[in-house]
Amino acid sequence: MGMDAQLRIAIIGCGTLGTAIANGILEPKSETGFSVKHLTATVGTPASKKRVEETLGVNSHRLTVLTKEENVRAIQDAEIVILAMKPIKRAKVFAVSGFKEALRDKFVVSIMAGISTAALGRLVFGENASEDTASLQAVRAMPNMAAKIREAVTLYTPGVGTTEDNLEIADWIFHQVGVAYQMPEGSFDICAVLVGCAGSLLLLAIDGLLDAAVAEGVKRPDVQNLVVNSAIGMLKLVPEGDHPGVLREKIASPGGCSIRALLELEKLGVRSAFTTAILAAAAKSKSMSSS
Ligand SMILES: NC(=O)c1ccc[n+]([C@@H]2O[C@H](COP(=O)([O-])OP(=O)(O)OC[C@H]3O[C@@H](n4cnc5c(N)ncnc54)[C@H](OP(=O)(O)O)[C@@H]3O)[C@@H](O)[C@H]2O)c1
Repeated sequence: MGMDAQLRIAIIGCGTLGTAIANGILEPKSETGFSVKHLTATVGTPASKKRVEETLGVNSHRLTVLTKEENVRAIQDAEIVILAMKPIKRAKVFAVSGFKEALRDKFVVSIMAGISTAALGRLVFGENASEDTASLQAVRAMPNMAAKIREAVTLYTPGVGTTEDNLEIADWIFHQVGVAYQMPEGSFDICAVLVGCAGSLLLLAIDGLLDAAVAEGVKRPDVQNLVVNSAIGMLKLVPEGDHPGVLREKIASPGGCSIRALLELEKLGVRSAFTTAILAAAAKSKSMSSS
């Protein structure tokens, strides 16, 4: 398949992330490269169907939105299937008559957290079909919520035997919502939770910072964006080449306020609390493929 191919794509579970991806691929960043000939999106309820139709309405001529009863039809109409429902739903979704069978000759891109490509193969071909499992064309990917503003970092890893052509398609899909990097499955769980969960941990930190403002009599909405934007500005220095540890030292002047705050955090064990939290998330991610 050439880079200028027109793709027929289905998104099963077109919720927050599915809609962000749909938006990105329907309006690619570049006029050269792949494009979407038709997108079929499925959701759980009629209310969600209406939401997706409204959100992606400008592309209605290339879009069909269906509810979950028509998942199989959506897959049959596509060459590439993005599985974007919650992982907890997978058993129910795969149990529907014809679902697994319809997926077998498709290129399957799963963004379900914690589901390895081998586990995906078992869902499609059954527990004991190891040879068939290896033949599934599949990619496991972990984007993050910043896909909504096309600033996600997505990690992806191919299943055994996935062709270079299909990897190119996966790479293109995720570049439409930010940047994307391929990595080996062995390091996927820890890296994926860093990409998928680090944002929520840092948001908790922001919440704590804002509590201090409120305690000092300043309204939260008055400082929220100031705090977030100052953090974004500082963090952007890291990809520019500043080492995080060195940067932190530079900010903390001798006898100053920052060093006082940093010492308090160290006393409270915040650094190791972050490490422990991410290790717990990675362990959960590893265990999900076998549950
Ligand atoms: N959220 C994150 O930051 C993040 C990060 C990385 C990866 N992920 C992964 O991305 C996936 C989507 O997450 P999300 O936050 O976008 O979830 P979400 O907003 O809840 O989207 C899930 C969608 O699935 C639909 N759905 C439910 N049952 C279905 C069925 N039987 N058939 C078809 N569609 C069905 C839901 O429709 P209704 O609402 O109508 O039920 C909803 O539109 C998950 O697998 C998650 O693990 C999420």
